[in-house]
Amino acid sequence: MRVIICENYEEMSKQAAKLVISQVTLKPESILGLATGSTPIGMYDKLIEANKAGEVDFSKVTTFNLDEYYPLSADNDQSYHYFMNEHLFSKTNIPFERTHVPDGEAANPEKECEEYDKKIEAAGGIDLQILGIGQNGHIGFNEPDKNLIAGTHLTELTDSTIEANSRFFEKKEDVPTKALTMGIASILKSKKIIIMANGAAKHEVVSALMTPDITTDIPATMLKIHSDVVVICDKEAFYGKQN
Ligand code: PGA
Repeated sequence: MRVIICENYEEMSKQAAKLVISQVTLKPESILGLATGSTPIGMYDKLIEANKAGEVDFSKVTTFNLDEYYPLSADNDQSYHYFMNEHLFSKTNIPFERTHVPDGEAANPEKECEEYDKKIEAAGGIDLQILGIGQNGHIGFNEPDKNLIAGTHLTELTDSTIEANSRFFEKKEDVPTKALTMGIASILKSKKIIIMANGAAKHEVVSALMTPDITTDIPATMLKIHSDVVVICDKEAFYGKQN
C-alpha cells in the first residue's frame, strides 16, 4: 500500500485526478470503478476541467459504480445515479450508455447483483477503482461485520452510516436502510485501487490502514491483501486534527 499525503482537499483531488487521467491516457478503453460521497467530488471537478480542456478523452471508457441505495429510484436526487450524472457523467464525454450503477429499483435485487458482477467480468474487469472510506471503515457499503460478502449484494446499512449520510437528506428517517453494493471480492479484483480520505474524522480509519492488521470490523483493511493500492489523503486524515 503506497501513501500520498497531500496538503489539503484540493491537492488530494488533483493527485487522484492525475492518476485517473494517466490511466485513461495509457488505456483509453479503461474500465473505471467509481465512488460517490463527498470525498471524490473535487477529483470529479478536476476530471471535468481536464476533459473540457481536451487533456483527457473519456469517449472510450466504461464505468461501474460501487453502490446504490435500495430501494431508491434513479431520478431521486439522493440516488447515486443522480449524484454521478450531476457530478461527472453529464459534464464529460463519458458515453452514458457505458456507465453502470446498480439498479436501486430492481424487482429482484439478488439477480441484479449477480448480473452486475457478470457485466464487470464481461467488460474485462475494473482497471482502476476509486474508493472513499466510511468513518466506520466501510468501502462501498461493505459495513463492519463478522463476515464480509465477496460479490455484489443487497446489504443493511449500519446506524453509523445512516447517521453519517443523513447530512444529505432532509431527515435521518429519509435515509434508505439498505443498499446494493459491490462486494469485497468485486473490489479486490480491480487491477489498481485508489482510496481517498480527507479530514480529521477519517484519521482513525486511515490509521487502521497503516497497521499490519486485517479485520472484518474495518472492511477497508482487506485492501492490504491487494498488491496495487494507493492511499491518497490529506494531512488531517493522516496525522489527525492540525492546529
Ligand atoms: P464521504 O463518504 O466521502 O461522504 O466521506 C465516504 C464513504 O462513506 O465511503
